[in-house]
Formats: sequence, structure tokens, C-alpha cells
Amino acid sequence: MSHPFDPGYVTEPFLNLCADYPGAEIYSSDQFRSEWGPIFHRGRLDGSARVLVIGQDPAQHEAVIRRVLVGEAGRRVQGLLRKLGITRSYVFINAYLYSVYGSVKAKTRKNPSLIDYRNRWLNALLVEGNVEAVLALGQAADEAWRFWKETPAGQSVQIAYARVTHPTQPESASRGDKDKLAAATKKLLQNWNKALQAVSPSVNPPDVPTPLTLYGETWAEGDRVAIPEFDFPAGLPAWMHEHDGWARRVGSGDLAKRRNITITITKGVVT
Ligand code: URA
Repeated sequence: MSHPFDPGYVTEPFLNLCADYPGAEIYSSDQFRSEWGPIFHRGRLDGSARVLVIGQDPAQHEAVIRRVLVGEAGRRVQGLLRKLGITRSYVFINAYLYSVYGSVKAKTRKNPSLIDYRNRWLNALLVEGNVEAVLALGQAADEAWRFWKETPAGQSVQIAYARVTHPTQPESASRGDKDKLAAATKKLLQNWNKALQAVSPSVNPPDVPTPLTLYGETWAEGDRVAIPEFDFPAGLPAWMHEHDGWARRVGSGDLAKRRNITITITKGVVT
């Protein structure tokens, strides 16, 4: 059985972007889990990406797999791309290279070195590439887009853009309250429908001809789509990309949790 995989950072400018990146001097360890290293991207870096998704910051599954948005949030966005008929021609980056710890100070968000490095990624993908639409997941992603749009390179290209609610915002906003979760999910899906209507005319032709079908009021069968094997580094075990929930930050106290990601193989894999 053949296993397609993502070859990684094999051509310029990505080789250089991954060899030389900002560390804890910019992503300071009081605001970021810089000790787990930078997570750069997921998807096509060969110029074939037609949609760029900007996420916020990597979590624990991303820290293990070394690719952006590989958990539940990623599956939801994969479903959003599927509704645009995009099954392969996409690329993801995050607004921040490292996992946010607590919150990010305004001074850090506006640090020219942080912004310049991110803009080099955006230039590589949006000026050199063939991206026709950008989806920004939440506030930090929207800010990344706006800061880039203020640059001469940003002003030189016209690309369809939609800021959308972050895919796991309903869970974070409702904190276990079922009614609040249902209301926040309904609101998110309305917001995603608007984004679909705004950008779908620009994504043309799609990878797979797909009549635009909008979301209902709750997640429906087929709205979450598996992340394809060709997005993952070579040799990743199937259980790591078929499910999430196998990586958890555990420990008694903040420091222990920061120092530890526990990986537990999904039930049923080893019997
Ligand atoms: N959420 C994001 O915005 N990005 C990730 O990489 C993971 C979760």
C-alpha cells in the first residue's frame, strides 16, 4: 500500500524560511511555548495552492506532527474548503509560529521582526503563488492579513478575502454549557456561510466541481472532513492523522503541563 506524504520544505523561499526563523527573542517564553519549536505550515508549497487559510497558533497535536491545523479545528476547516470544491489546492499558515501561552501583548503583536518574517511567508504564497482566496480564522489571523495588506506587496495584489470565526471558538466561548455551545455553533455556521458566498466566485475552477451547499444550524454529517494523508510528513502512523485527542498536556501545575505532552495511542490500535 502506497502512502503519499508531504515532502516538506524543499524549495526556496521555504528552505530559507525554515532554516532561519525567529525564536524566543521575539516569541518570548512568557507569551509563547517557544520550547516546542516553530510549526510552519500545512498544504501545497509548489505554487498550486488556490486558497490560503491563516490560523492562529499551533496546539499539542501540531507540536507532535509539525503541521498546522491537524486536529478537530483542521477537520472543520477541511470541510469548509470541501464546500468550495478545494480538496488539494490549499495551504495553511498560522499567525504565530509558536503556541500561545496566556495571551499575546500588543507590543509583541506589533513587533516588526515578527510581522516581517510572517510577511515573507505571505509574499511567498500570495505574490509568487496562485492563491485566489484567503480565509482568516479569528482576530490574530485577520490582523496578520491587515498588516500584510499595508505593505507594498500586499497592496500590489487583489485577492478575495474573508475573516471567519475560528473553528473552535464555540467550544472556547461556551465552556461546557450545551445551550451556549449550540448558539455559538449556529452563529459560526452563519458566519461561514457568508464567507462561502463571498469567496466561492473567486475560486474558479475548483479542484472538484461542487455546487455551493451552505451549512445548516448545527454540524451535519460530512461537514468535518479528514485531513488527507498527503498533508502529513512521511511515515506518520495512521492513528495520528485519523483522529485527535491522543496528545494531551498533563501534569500538576502550569510548569509540568508546559513541559509535558503525553501521547496515548488511540484505543483499538494495539490489542
Ligand atoms: N488552531 C489554529 O488556529 N492553528 C493550529 O495550528 C491549531 C489550532
